[in-house]
Amino acid sequence: MDSLAAPYPTTNQKLIDWVEEMVALCKPDRVHWCSGSDEEWKRLTDRMVDAGTFIRLNPEKRPNSFLVRSDPNDVARVEDKTFICSTNKKDAGPTNNWADPREMKTKLTGLFDGCMRGREMHIVPFSMGPIGSPISQIGVEISDSAYVVLNMRIMTRMGQEVLDALGSDGDFVPCLHSVGQPLVDGRENVAWPCDPSNTYIAHFPEDRTIWSFGSGYGGNALLGKKCFALRIASVMARDEGWLAEHMLILGVEDPKGEKTYVAAAFPSACGKTNFAMMVPPEGFEGWKIWCVGDDIAWIKPGEDGKLYAINPEAGFFGVAPGTSYKTNQNAMDSLKANSIFTNVALTDDGDVWWEGMTDEEPEHLIDWLGNDWTPGCGRKSSHPNSRFTAPAAQCPVIDPAWEDPKGVPISAFLFGGRMSKNMPLVYQAFNWSHGVYSAATMGSEATAAAVGQAAMRRDPMAMIPFCGYNMADYFTHWLNVGRHLANPPRIFRVNWFRKDDQGNFIWPGFGQNMRVLRWVVDRVHGRTAPVESPVGWMPRYEDIDWSGLDFPSETYYELMAVDREAGTQEAHAHEELFDKFFDRLPKEFIYERELLRSRLWRSPDHWFLQAERQTD
Ligand code: GTP
Ligand code: SPV
Ligand code: MN
Repeated sequence: MDSLAAPYPTTNQKLIDWVEEMVALCKPDRVHWCSGSDEEWKRLTDRMVDAGTFIRLNPEKRPNSFLVRSDPNDVARVEDKTFICSTNKKDAGPTNNWADPREMKTKLTGLFDGCMRGREMHIVPFSMGPIGSPISQIGVEISDSAYVVLNMRIMTRMGQEVLDALGSDGDFVPCLHSVGQPLVDGRENVAWPCDPSNTYIAHFPEDRTIWSFGSGYGGNALLGKKCFALRIASVMARDEGWLAEHMLILGVEDPKGEKTYVAAAFPSACGKTNFAMMVPPEGFEGWKIWCVGDDIAWIKPGEDGKLYAINPEAGFFGVAPGTSYKTNQNAMDSLKANSIFTNVALTDDGDVWWEGMTDEEPEHLIDWLGNDWTPGCGRKSSHPNSRFTAPAAQCPVIDPAWEDPKGVPISAFLFGGRMSKNMPLVYQAFNWSHGVYSAATMGSEATAAAVGQAAMRRDPMAMIPFCGYNMADYFTHWLNVGRHLANPPRIFRVNWFRKDDQGNFIWPGFGQNMRVLRWVVDRVHGRTAPVESPVGWMPRYEDIDWSGLDFPSETYYELMAVDREAGTQEAHAHEELFDKFFDRLPKEFIYERELLRSRLWRSPDHWFLQAERQTD
C-alpha cells in the first residue's frame, strides 16, 4: 500500500522515517507537506473561512486578514502543563515542572495514538533565523491544526525552501503537535478543537524534541517559538557557548547616524513589543529606533569579542489590548494586512477592535466569545491575552540588518519587570557579575493581580517559564559567557512601572522610555559619568535629556530613590530564590548579595539622588 505521506518532497531519511512513524501513530486521514506558497495560504484560509473557524476581515480595511476565536478554555500558555523531561530531575531544576522522559513518552504515545483520525496531518518545515544562515536552526512541526500552519507561515520562514536547505542529511528538531480531538464516533468538528484536560507541553532536551498535546494556542502550539527557540535552544546554547533569550532587539540611531544595538528582557506582557519599535518623543528629532525583534534573541560571541544577536522569528505574536496609534504606531502599521487576530472583537464593518485601540469605543461589537457587546455592558470585548500575528517585514521601522545572518552587535542588555514599589527607573550594574546578579533576581508583579496586592514573582532574565534546564546552571552559563568576552555588553536594570501612593504610574513610559535609552547609549559610549547608588550606577537629573518634556526633578528623585529597609528585605528575598538552587548556585551570587547588603547597610534610610548631588 502506498504511504499516505508519499511522494516525499525531501530526500532527508531521518525526516521521512520520523514522518512515517508519526503517521502510523497519529493515524490521520490525509497528510499534507507544507510548501509555504501563497496558493497554500489561500487554500487553507479559504478552507478555514468555509469551516467557520476564520472570519475574513473586510478586505478594504484589513486585506488578507482573519479573525479567529479560540475555545474559552484555551487562551494562553499553560505553565503548569509545561514539562522539561530530562533524564535527571536535577537537570530540569527547581523552577521547571519535571517528568521522567520514559513515563512522559509512554503517556503521550497513548494520547497521540489515533489522535488525528478524521483529520489532516500537516508537515511544517521551518527555519528559526534566515534560511541557510549559520546561526539558524531547522525544525519540522507535525500538526493537525491549520491555524498552526498559517501562524507558522507568518512567525517563521516556512515551506519547501526549508526542506531544500535541510538537504538529505541535515538535522532538525522534531516538533509533534495535536489539538487532541480526533473526529471519531460521529464527533463533528468544532471551530476550535482542543483538549484542556489532557494538555501537555513536553520538552525532551536530551533528544531535542518537543511533543505538545491538547492546546491550539500561541506558545503551546506554535512550537518554533517558546518551545524550540527558547526551551530547546537554551539547552543548545548552554552546550555550544551562546545565549537563547526572551529579549527584544533594537537599534538606536542618533542624529549623526551612529547606531547602537540593545537587547532587553522584560517578562511576558511587560512591554517588549512597545519598546522594540518605540517612536522617540518630542524633543528627540533626528533620533530613530529600528526594530530587529520583539520577543526572542539568539546571541553568539563574535570574533571581535562582542556579542551578536539575531531574531530567530519572522513575525510578531503581540498582545492586542493596549496597542494603538498612540502607544505603538509601528505595531499598528505592521498589522494593517496579511495578519491573523485571535480573541479580539469584530466591528460591524468587518474590522477588529480591542480595548485601548481607540479613545472612543465602537457603539457595537461582537466580542471574543461571539456575543453582542456595547459600551458599558461591563465586559471586555477582547480577551486580555488576545494577540495579533503579523509579518515583521511589514514593520515600518524594521532594521535593514534584521535578516543579516551575522546578527547585530549588542552594546547593552536591559532587564526590567513590573515593580510598583522601590525599584528605580534605571541603574547600571557595576560589572558583569553584578549585572548577571541583578538580572537573575529580577521580579515582576502578576499582571492580573488585584489592585494594591502586588503579588510578585521572581523571573530571572524574564526566562522563568522558558529555560530548558536548571536555572542555577543557566546563571553559571551567563557568568561564563561574559568572562570570555573582550567587549561584553553593559548591563542595566529598568522599571517603567513604579507607582505613587495613589496607584498612578510615576513614569509616563512608552516613547518617553527613549530618555532612559539615550542615557544607556551615552553610558555605553562613555559620554556621561554616573553616580554610585547602593544598587548600581545612576544618572543625575541633568544627565537625562529632558528636551520636549516638563518632568519635575522632585518626581525624578522619587523614581530613583532607594529605601534601605525595603532594599534589605529585597536582598533577603533573593536568598529565598537562591535557597531553591542549593549547591548549584554560582558562588559569585553569594558575594554579590553580601555586597548589596553592605552597601545598603551603610546607606541612609532613604537614599536620594538629590542629596548625593548636593554633596558632589
Ligand atoms: P509577550 O509578547 O507576552 O512576551 O510580551 P511583551 O513584553 O511583548 O508585552 P507587550 O509589549 O505586549 O506589553 C503590553 C503591556 O505593557 C500593555 O499592558 C502595555 O500597556 C504595557 N506597557 C508597555 N510599555 C509600557 C510602558 O512604558 N509603561 C507602562 N506603564 N506600560 C507599558
Ligand atoms: C509570552 O507569553 O511571552 C509570549 C506569548 O510571547 S506566547 O508565544 O504564547 O508564549
Ligand atoms: Mn514572550
